[in-house]
Amino acid sequence: MNQPTEARLLAESDIMWAEVGQSRPHESAQLHVLGTANYVDDIREVQGTLHAALGLSQKAHAKIRAIDLEAVRNSPGVVAVCTAADIPGANDCGPIIHDDPILADGLVQYVGQPMFIVVADSHDNARRAARKAVVDYEELPALLTPQQARDANSFVLPPMQLRRGQFEQAYAAAPHKLQGKLAVGGQEQFYLEGQISYAIPKEDGGMLVLCSTQHPTEMQHTVAHALDLLSHKVQVECRRMGGGFGGKETQSALWAGAAAIAANYVKGPVKLRADRDDDMMVTGKRHCFWYEYEAGYDDEGRILAAKVEMLTRAGFSADLSGPVATRAVCHFDNAYYLSDVDIVAMCARTNTQSNTAFRGFGGPQGAIAIEYIIDEIARNLGRDALDVRKANFYGRDPDGARNTTPYGQPVKDNVIHELVAQLESDSSYRARRAAAREFNAMSPVLKKGIALTPVKFGVAFNTVHQNQAGALVHVYVDGSVLVNHGGTEMGQGVNTKVAQVVAQQLGVDLSLVQVSATDTAKIANTSPTAASTGADLNGKAAQDAARQICERLAQMVAKEYGADPADVQFRNNHVHVGGRALPFKQVVAKAYLARVQLWSDGFYATPNLCWDSKTMTGTPFSYFAYGAAVSEVIVDTLTGEWKLLRADALYDAGNSLNPAIDKGQVEGAFIQGMGWLTTEELWWNQMGKLMTHAPSTYKIPAVSDCPEDFRVSLYKNANVTDSIHRSKAVGEPPLLLPFSVFFAIRDAVASVGDYRVNPPLQAPATYEAIFNAVTAVSEG
Ligand code: MTE
Ligand code: MOS
Repeated sequence: MNQPTEARLLAESDIMWAEVGQSRPHESAQLHVLGTANYVDDIREVQGTLHAALGLSQKAHAKIRAIDLEAVRNSPGVVAVCTAADIPGANDCGPIIHDDPILADGLVQYVGQPMFIVVADSHDNARRAARKAVVDYEELPALLTPQQARDANSFVLPPMQLRRGQFEQAYAAAPHKLQGKLAVGGQEQFYLEGQISYAIPKEDGGMLVLCSTQHPTEMQHTVAHALDLLSHKVQVECRRMGGGFGGKETQSALWAGAAAIAANYVKGPVKLRADRDDDMMVTGKRHCFWYEYEAGYDDEGRILAAKVEMLTRAGFSADLSGPVATRAVCHFDNAYYLSDVDIVAMCARTNTQSNTAFRGFGGPQGAIAIEYIIDEIARNLGRDALDVRKANFYGRDPDGARNTTPYGQPVKDNVIHELVAQLESDSSYRARRAAAREFNAMSPVLKKGIALTPVKFGVAFNTVHQNQAGALVHVYVDGSVLVNHGGTEMGQGVNTKVAQVVAQQLGVDLSLVQVSATDTAKIANTSPTAASTGADLNGKAAQDAARQICERLAQMVAKEYGADPADVQFRNNHVHVGGRALPFKQVVAKAYLARVQLWSDGFYATPNLCWDSKTMTGTPFSYFAYGAAVSEVIVDTLTGEWKLLRADALYDAGNSLNPAIDKGQVEGAFIQGMGWLTTEELWWNQMGKLMTHAPSTYKIPAVSDCPEDFRVSLYKNANVTDSIHRSKAVGEPPLLLPFSVFFAIRDAVASVGDYRVNPPLQAPATYEAIFNAVTAVSEG
């Protein structure tokens, strides 16, 4: 049975060999560039496919007295119109609290809420027809702002509070005090590929839904409930998304549900692709936040007491507002030890889109409040904000006194001191800060500003049970490998990373490993790809599957060569046993003939997590990821225009699984976060209609807004926690790095008042907001 001719001795290249930790191109990079990567709308349509569009509410809050759909039905190309009455099962797409109808039934709660589905022979005919409904609304009072909602005691869930220590006493005793307010706007996900679902009826009442979603399992549940089917009749598949950014975690459910309802109604395939304007009118966004804060501090700027009340716009239904607010509460501390703290979060029910996940998931909104407070403390004391930040960092000693978060989790992996020191020196922060001040003294109109801000971000779902994942690994007789896992690919590179993990485990080149579409028929009961845990969870699950295959192969070759299975190694496309290197393919072919199982499932559940949502305490995070950035801007104080001159970002991706992909994530998150805090402004009119519902009125950063000098590096730091190859998550935490852009702008504006006044700058710091802040500072 031996074929010793193909065996060889262990070589240098075997020892050097690695797939994990290498900068490999994204698995679809070539397809992306060639335009041959299939998104749902690229899939060749099944014969007889019809196209759907949604009829949207024109009122923010109203009873529907009557709805006349005659003109819709008679519109060219229309095949059918479905309303809530045509849903055989549950009319609901609410992920946690079931307050979110797929189609409004008698009551509309925001401008843009879907009321009916038009099915036509073309996308355009469906959209045209959808506008022809004659609706008799009985208008009800609408709550359009979170403040109105709070005054009316209208919340989607009870307020949450996290207290530690004695805020009142510590505040009363503090030598310095400040209090203030801050508003931070929301953000549209603006994925390049909009929401889309393509529902194809299968035999015996089954339904296949091809969907652009971060959460195939939840889409499966929504469709099953809507059609009154068991889950095993519904299959949801997602090969990739053209971006999700949290916007397709729960909110793809409305589209999946509606497409399936329509397909069930016409008994044929139906595709529902949202036009950009409809997508923005219908779906929720990042929550905007209002803060009222109080802080007591000493002469060094050390915070002795902090209190914040966060009011957020949940929109008309709960969706993920609870978990988002929880993460905001758990990130108010950012990188700082807060001994006596009182944090309250309230989710206001407003008659607007139901806000949802967006990269960072409330974390950025929590952390920006403490950064704002620190920025003010520094100005009040006339100190460099970086020194005040350092004075407040969590301690270096993992068992030290200043090392427990307000929610009770000890910080055991703190590297913020070293990381910030490295960035401070690499970016020449001190010298450039001094230079900016010199420049400003000579420049009456153009003003420079600079800021360095840190990030500490908790990784894992706060909801403990979501921290689980499954995978399937198939090794075929030719030695090629197919991997399927529960994560979804949205451009972030999870498939590439999981493929690297499997290649590493099996000891084969990455080119032998292919990842297939996420499919509820392959891996059951998956968690959403969210909270930056995609690679952490699915990487571990796939490793577990591949490891089992290796164990079986090791048993076989060890027996044959009289070796210990534990000594068999898989590297460089060879199986190493007793000093021999057998080609992997040859071993696999033999194993098949020997009837050894060449595929396996794998599973992973993150250990040591706990969370008590009542007391808001526990160990919700598996570890923390760290980072910091320095940004330098120049502001035209006559117009409010500004430019980012240079940005340096240093991010702790642990032992990065793929440095090229991780750097890409840091760059993307930085620019996306910068857009949130500067140019992206959501604006509703007095009728509650979102007026910024297309790129013409909603300004996301363009290539020209990226800094010419952009230096992104990864900080060398193996994860203390046993994460996949000791790497760390990278998807969301870097979104907090551009806090430095916002505070650099505020620094430039402060120069107008000789750095003595705290500029009343809110986010987004649009040109208009900057201009107003300059005016306020120069007037007093
Ligand atoms: N990167 C790209 N290119 N596209 C995306 O949609 N989503 C972000 C982040 N990076 C996103 C992205 C969000 S919101 C999350 S939670 C993570 O990716 C999810 O993927 P991961 O857990 O595999 O990092
Ligand atoms: Mo990301 S906001 O957790 O999908």
